[in-house]
Amino acid sequence: MIPAAKLSDVPNFGKKVVTVSDREILLINVKGTIYACENECPHQSSPMTAGVVKEGSISCPRHGYRFNLANGTCADHPEYTLKTYPVQVNGEEILVELD
Ligand code: FES
Repeated sequence: MIPAAKLSDVPNFGKKVVTVSDREILLINVKGTIYACENECPHQSSPMTAGVVKEGSISCPRHGYRFNLANGTCADHPEYTLKTYPVQVNGEEILVELD
């Protein structure tokens, strides 16, 4: 697990883009649960940082594909999967696991 940010950097219902090991990772706080995913939409590479987070998923700002925050799947377009990363919170530290 690699330190990605401080918990206080990602406010509730907020997002933050960080660079970890040369990869852009989007951190999302949903009611205290932190999710991590790639910041590039697997459809046509739109930045996901402007996506709308709702009911456990994030909608791409460009064409609205909705990806599950927990596993990155897209119910309407199953051929596209947003890469997600395991997250651990250790005190103030947000850690992510890259593969
Ligand atoms: S670029 Fe994200 S849905 Fe098309």
